[in-house]
Amino acid sequence: MPKLVNKLLLMLLATPVAFAGNVEVLHYWTSGGEAAALDVLKKQMADEGHQWQDFVIAGGGGGNAMAELQTRVLKGLPPAAAQIKGLDIQRWARLGFLANLNNIAQADKWDDKLPSVVSDVMKHNDQYVAVPVNVHRTNWLWINKPLLDALNLKAPKTWDEFDAAAKVIQDAGYQVIAQGDQAWQHATLFEAVALSVGGADYYKRAFVEHEFSAIKSAETDAVFERYYKLVKLMKFDSDAEWHQATNKVIEGKAAFQFMGDWAKGEFIKAEKKPNKDFMCVPAPGTANKFLFNIDSFAIFNLRNVEASEIQAQTALVRNIMSDSFQSAFNQNKGSIPARTDMSMATFDLCAQYSMSEFLNANDNGALLPSIAHGMATTGTVQQYFYEKIAELTKTPDTPAESSKQLAKAIRYGQYILK
Ligand code: BGC
Repeated sequence: MPKLVNKLLLMLLATPVAFAGNVEVLHYWTSGGEAAALDVLKKQMADEGHQWQDFVIAGGGGGNAMAELQTRVLKGLPPAAAQIKGLDIQRWARLGFLANLNNIAQADKWDDKLPSVVSDVMKHNDQYVAVPVNVHRTNWLWINKPLLDALNLKAPKTWDEFDAAAKVIQDAGYQVIAQGDQAWQHATLFEAVALSVGGADYYKRAFVEHEFSAIKSAETDAVFERYYKLVKLMKFDSDAEWHQATNKVIEGKAAFQFMGDWAKGEFIKAEKKPNKDFMCVPAPGTANKFLFNIDSFAIFNLRNVEASEIQAQTALVRNIMSDSFQSAFNQNKGSIPARTDMSMATFDLCAQYSMSEFLNANDNGALLPSIAHGMATTGTVQQYFYEKIAELTKTPDTPAESSKQLAKAIRYGQYILK
C-alpha cells in the first residue's frame, strides 16, 4: 500500500468519523412540554450531523401509533426507532423486527446504569431491543397553588381532606378537577384510585395478575365508590386533550388534575415553578407508592439501507442513554431519568421527590406497573379495561355491578388472541 494511503487510513481509524445519516423516529409527543423535551434529542443528533425525520402520530397516550407502524413494518419499511412501551416491546421483538443492542449495551454498561424494573422491560430473551428515556409516575395530583392559598386550603393527603377541599373550591365557583374526556385519561385516574383505596397487593392481584376474584371484590367496589365521587366533580366539555386540562389548572380555572408527570412538562413550558405556582403531590393515599410508566424507543432492524443510516441509528441509541439527554430531556418532560446512576441536583423539587418515591416504593413492594399506560398487561386487555372504564365513567352503575363488569371485561380481554 502506498505510504500516503496508509497514513490516511490510519488517520481515519484514529479519529471518530461522523457518518451523517438519516434517522426516522416514530413518536406521539406533540404537546408543548413533550415537543420541548424531544427537541433535546433532535438537537443532539443535529449537532452530530444527522438528519432527523419525524414520523409523528398525534393523539396522546399512543393514539393510532401502533396501527400506522404495523402498516410500515409490513411494507418492509420500518422507521429506525419507534416510541413503543412495556409489553408491546416483547410483541415486536417476538416477531423478529427489533435489533439486538447488546453490543452497545455492554460497551456502555447499561446493566450498571438501569434498575432492573427498567432493563427488564427493554430486554427480550436477554437481549436489549429498546432504549429507555425516562420513568413517569402516573399517581400524581397537580394543584394550582395560588388558588388553594387564596381559599386557605392545604394539599389533600387523604380522601376526606380532598372532599372537604372540593366543597370549598366548588362553593367559591371554581372547577374542582380538570379532566379531558378520553378513555386513557379516565383509566389513568382509575388506576391511581385503585392503588390508593385497594393498596399495592390488591393492585397487583387485580391489574397485573388479573385474578378474577380480586377484581370482582369488595375492594373494587370501594374503588368504584371513590371513583364515582370524583367523576361527579369533573366537567366534561370540549377540552378533550390532557394538556388542555392541565392548562385549566395552570390558569387557575380548575384546582386539581390527576395525571402522570408529563403534566409537569406543561407547567414548566409555561414557566411555572413548583411549590410557588403549582404543587405536585401523590394522589391521596398513595405516598410511597409508585405506578410507573416507562417511555422507550424500540429499535428496528433496518435492511437494505445505507451504512450511514445504521450509524445514525446507533448514534440515536447512544444519545438517548447519554447523561446530557437523560438530564435535559427529563427536566422538560416532567419525568425522572431511566438511569439511577445520575445526579438529581439540577432537577426541580417534584423530580427529586419522584426519584425518592421511586426508590422507596422499590424497597417496599409498592413499585407497580401502570395498566393505563401499557406496563402491566397486553394491549388487548388494556383496550377492554379502557372501554369499560370509559363506559362506566359516562354511565355509572352501582359499585358492585361495576366491579363485576370490569372483571368480565378484563377476563374477556385475556381470552382474545391478538
Ligand atoms: C406517555 C407520555 C405522554 C403521555 C401523553 C403517556 O402514555 O408515556 O410520554 O406524554 O402519554 O401523551
